[in-house]
This record gives sequence, C-alpha cells and structure tokens, in this order.
Amino acid sequence: MPRWFVTGAGGQLASAFAHVLEDQVFLSNEEALDIRDAEAVRTAVHAFAPDCILHCAAYTNVDGAEANEDAAEAVNVLGTRNVLQAVRGTHTTVVYFSTDYVFDGAKGAPYVESDLPRPLNAYGRTKLAGEQEVLGWAHGIVIRTSWLFSETGHNFVKTILAAARDRAGTGEPLRVVDDQVGCPTYAGHLAATVDEALSLGLGPGLYHMAGSGYCSWCELAREVVQLAGLDVEVEPITTAEAGRPAPRPLFSALDTERPIPRLPHWAEGVAEAVDKLISPA
Ligand SMILES: NC(=O)c1ccc[n+]([C@@H]2O[C@H](COP(=O)([O-])OP(=O)(O)OC[C@H]3O[C@@H](n4cnc5c(N)ncnc54)[C@H](OP(=O)(O)O)[C@@H]3O)[C@@H](O)[C@H]2O)c1
Repeated sequence: MPRWFVTGAGGQLASAFAHVLEDQVFLSNEEALDIRDAEAVRTAVHAFAPDCILHCAAYTNVDGAEANEDAAEAVNVLGTRNVLQAVRGTHTTVVYFSTDYVFDGAKGAPYVESDLPRPLNAYGRTKLAGEQEVLGWAHGIVIRTSWLFSETGHNFVKTILAAARDRAGTGEPLRVVDDQVGCPTYAGHLAATVDEALSLGLGPGLYHMAGSGYCSWCELAREVVQLAGLDVEVEPITTAEAGRPAPRPLFSALDTERPIPRLPHWAEGVAEAVDKLISPA
C-alpha cells in the first residue's frame, strides 16, 4: 500500500484526500508544516518516506495575490521547490495541483493540455511557475483543476448558500457574475478521480481534471439556491460591475486530451456538497 504525504492538509482538496485515501497517510496539518520552511519540509518528508506527495498547500487567495505577489510566490513557487528538494534522490511521485487561471480565457473553447498558458493575474503566474518546477522533476505530475468547492473550507458554494440564507424571503437579490465561465469541481470527485488515475499508473506530466460540463458563476449560484430550496433571486452582473482587484479569464473551462478517468458533471458535485451542507451527518 502506498505511503501518502499530503501538504496543506487543512484545505478543501487535502481534506477530501483524507477521506478518500486509506491508511499510511501523513497529513501536514497535524504538524503545522509550513512549506516555506525548507528544512522543516525536508525533515518531515524524510521521516515519513512517502511514495507519493499530494502537494495541496497553496496560496489560493486570487485577489490577495494581486496585492502581494511575493507572498503568493513564496508558497506557490518557493514552497513547491522545497517539496521537490526534499524528494531529490528518491523515486517519490509529487502531484501538484494547478489552476485554469493559467489561461487568459481568449480561446473561446475548453482548454486542453497542449494549449499555451498566459495568466492574467498574479495567482495564475505563481501557479504556472510552480508547475514548471514540478515538470522538471522526473516523477512530477501537474493536475490543473478549477473552481473547487466542498463542504469544508472557504469556497463559492458555501458563500452563496450563506448569503442566500441571509436574504431568503427579504426580496433582496443576490448579484453574481454571469460573464465568467468555468468548470466547478467538487473536491471529493477530484480526490477520488486522482486516486483512481494514480492507481491505474498515471505517469509524469500535465493533466486537466475538472468537473464535466461548464457554467457561469451566476448559473452555479442559481443551482445552489435551487437545491437549497431558498426563495432568493440571483441577478446576473458583469465582471466589470463586480469590480474585483485581480483580472480573471472570461472562459477558462478545462477539457483533457489525455486518456484519463473523467470527473462526474459539476452539477452532481454541487448536489452532493449542498446536501451535506444542508443536512450534515
Ligand atoms: N480553490 C480553487 O478554486 C482552486 C482552483 C484551481 C486550482 N486550485 C488549486 O488546488 C489546490 C488545492 O486548493 P484548495 O481549494 O484545497 O485550497 P485551500 O482550501 O485554500 O487550501 C490550501 C491549504 O494550503 C495551506 N497553506 C497556505 N500556505 C501554506 C504554507 N506556507 N505552508 C503550508 N500550508 C499552507 C492553507 O492553510 P491556511 O488556510 O492556514 O492558509 C490551506 O490549508 C491548490 O494548489 C490550488 O492552487 C484551487
């Protein structure tokens, strides 16, 4: 049975992996491992001797990165380099998770692995630089995903559910961006699909894995509100009206040209997450 080492273990995707993987898992949050600390990473990795590192730790605040690119770079690039240095001389697989925000959104059709990245924002630039570090490792795997949500952590689905509950019955609408389109991805589906792909022998390289289909943020919000049975209108607005600090691609749906397992449709993931959020076990 492989030994798994999961970085960023308090986050959405790492929490999903903690549910999917069987034993022999090192979860970095138990030791508060800061991946910016090269020596601490080396010590923890050597002590556990993993077969595979699921490198989920990242600086994921897109607008925060725009204001402080150095902080994002310290985690997404230098932290990733620390993880790679810790496995030097071993055969440990390192799986790095990247983003649809490495693309500029101008293609007008779903992006595949051979499309050229051109990030519009600081987050995308630092994640792309992290990718390049990992692709330089003989056992490096880069998995680009997008619009992650789950019942844990901070994410759009939870934010919309909370905002809709606040407004239910007040007549006050929710205003949500309708001109950005992407693939909402349920972290539980991604973790299960990555586990399946690795068990089928996924080799080094670059892969796209996101929820099937695509939609706008506004359509996603409407799905959440409808599944939750809340009486709230979701009003479409433009990216310009939303006025967020970091520019975002308008169409960043992902598709794959590789023979890898596919994720279920995004709406199935939303149904699963909303169900868990509404009626927690
Ligand atoms: N969220 C998305 O929509 C999205 C979309 C595409 C790709 N991705 C990528 O998918 C991966 C997983 O994303 P996610 O949504 O699970 O992210 P997340 O929920 O924000 O989790 C990231 C985790 O990394 C931790 N972290 C931050 N800086 C760290 C450091 N210096 N050392 C150790 N841990 C650190 C965070 O801890 P704190 O919370 O304490 O800071 C958090 O627990 C990331 O690589 C992300 O770039 C995410």
